[in-house]
Amino acid sequence: MSETSQTTSQTEGRDLAPTPEFAEQANGKAELYDAAAADFEGFWAEQSRERISWSKDFDQTLDWSGAPFAKWFVGGELNASYNCVDRHVDAGNGDRVAIHFEGEGGDTRTITYAELQRDVAKAANALESLGVSKGDRVAIYLPMIPEAVAAMLACARIGAPHSVVFGGFSADALRTRIADAEAKLVITADGQFRRGKTAPLKPAVDAAVDGESTVEKVLVVQRTKDDVDWNDDRDVWWHDVVDSASDQHEAVAHDSEHPLFILYTSGTTGKPKGIFHTTGGYLTQAAYTNSVVHDVHPETDVYWCTADIGWVTGHSYIVYGPLANGATQVIYEGTPDTPHQGRWWEIVQKYGVTILYTAPTAIRTFMKWGDDIPAKFDLSSLRLLGSVGEPINPEAWLWYRKNIGGGSAPIVDTWWQTETGGIMISPLPGVTELEPGSAQKPIPGISAEILDDEGQPFTEAEKVGYLVLTKPWPGMLRGIWGDEERYKETYWSRFGEKYYFAGDGAKYDEKGNIWLLGRVDDVMNVSGHRLSTAEIESALVSHPTVAEAAVVGASDETTGQAVVAFVILRGGAEDHGDETVQELRNHVAKEIGPIAKPRSIMVVSELPKTRSGKIMRRLLRDVAENREVGDVTTLADSSVMNLIKEGMSAGK
Ligand code: WTA
Repeated sequence: MSETSQTTSQTEGRDLAPTPEFAEQANGKAELYDAAAADFEGFWAEQSRERISWSKDFDQTLDWSGAPFAKWFVGGELNASYNCVDRHVDAGNGDRVAIHFEGEGGDTRTITYAELQRDVAKAANALESLGVSKGDRVAIYLPMIPEAVAAMLACARIGAPHSVVFGGFSADALRTRIADAEAKLVITADGQFRRGKTAPLKPAVDAAVDGESTVEKVLVVQRTKDDVDWNDDRDVWWHDVVDSASDQHEAVAHDSEHPLFILYTSGTTGKPKGIFHTTGGYLTQAAYTNSVVHDVHPETDVYWCTADIGWVTGHSYIVYGPLANGATQVIYEGTPDTPHQGRWWEIVQKYGVTILYTAPTAIRTFMKWGDDIPAKFDLSSLRLLGSVGEPINPEAWLWYRKNIGGGSAPIVDTWWQTETGGIMISPLPGVTELEPGSAQKPIPGISAEILDDEGQPFTEAEKVGYLVLTKPWPGMLRGIWGDEERYKETYWSRFGEKYYFAGDGAKYDEKGNIWLLGRVDDVMNVSGHRLSTAEIESALVSHPTVAEAAVVGASDETTGQAVVAFVILRGGAEDHGDETVQELRNHVAKEIGPIAKPRSIMVVSELPKTRSGKIMRRLLRDVAENREVGDVTTLADSSVMNLIKEGMSAGK
């Protein structure tokens, strides 16, 4: 691809190798690669024992006899919440700040590890008093406030797997996720602050648990103080039961393979997948990667991951990784442009943030807003930058380094997935000579390859293939909640049972760096969020006027991809132009959530289909991206594309 040559010329003469000073102090050293290659299991056993406090040591590092279902650190027992909180207090670091919380409206809270320990203990006691015990599932539907962290850790403490649902998801999406996990309790808030206004959350929970539901209690944090409907039998205020609870709670050790959480993500079918993770392996990988990739030094760094806890990045790199390492971090509630477009940089300056981990879509937005905005702030504290969620184009990489990283901060472009639990492919910032736009190499302990259509591994440069993982890893998903078959079929069948199929296209460059090229399945990546074409199509056809729908991800300058939909209206339904389009867009927002709202919807009379009836999304993508339409020979009716194009040029 041309990106590579462009990158090389753009970066020639730039210093992409780590400085000796950075390398000297870095947690991740080159020896790790050799150690992991020499003794894979021994390497992970050592990482785990070094970084995690086990109440009972494990006797087997990996049990792969039930492949593709892995067991890591077999026989070991630990408590994730103890590891993230109590042990730091026990070690004399109770006064260290765990969280600098910055509310959107400017309210702040500083929470030390000792305070976090009390908050988590109280929340755990309150959950138990509401009937939650080990093994019960708890849904969490909260904004980015410290209670979200306390709630997750309280669940982990009890051994009640949490299922965090992003606050931007609709009542329907929440209902499906609650039902699939059979959650017993939901933790939510009255509402959240977004763009200077309040946005309600509790009404969505009310709707999601209305009628038949597994949910017995709803625990409500008061954040916005807006009025909410109240069901005395079911609803409980957080400040009533948590604040008055005892701040002493014993963290009982759980089995290494005890489920820690379920997190739903989009797959290629309409039904979201409940990816589930267990305790010992997941925590090991989260702590290890946060140390060697983000290079967190807990005594001196101020770390900030801008993700939402509703996504896996928030799980691994706000909650479990940094807290297991005893880091000090910033949590910001709101949007980057409230009350002004320099808000993030103001926060970096205010707290002296040293490590920033964010997504390419945010970086491209800042590029659009202009260089002068970050330039007004003192960003000199930043010493490491990270990127996650989608490929970062070299131009955005270079902008990020120059305008945010002072021209010299290393950038770690980290490839991983909800399923992998932690970072898999990334530079080590003290070791790797960087290549803008490429995630580069599997980190020590991780093995990846690229396969061709026949499933053969290759190493030629510039040939495009499929990324696979060739060995189990500690943070790997242990399955899809309640659906063993779907787990095997989705990840372990495309290239046989030897390879975990990630669903991403990839290639090598001449230097052997891996470049990730986006999804090869019907999953879109919009602003780093995974959305399934099938899920949005089924939301569209659930509208009474829609007969058929096809959705594609069209490339978009800011969001990476954007949702573009083509719909056929039912006989009798009239096309009211903009009005129809707006109504359908809002319908998708209601069914799934505002993030799934199509950027555009085109009303068409036919959809391009193969003779076997499969919609040819490739052709629709050509239309959506204003390209010459490609090969139409496999279409059942080749005149369809002309009809669609004519409709478009007629402004329909
Ligand atoms: C994409 C987010 C290129 C990829 C942690 C993957 C990336 C999907 C990168 C997982 C990256 C994530 N470069 N693509 N650095 N990071 N992706 O589950 O397509 O929300 O399969 O996990 O995001 O998205 P998920």
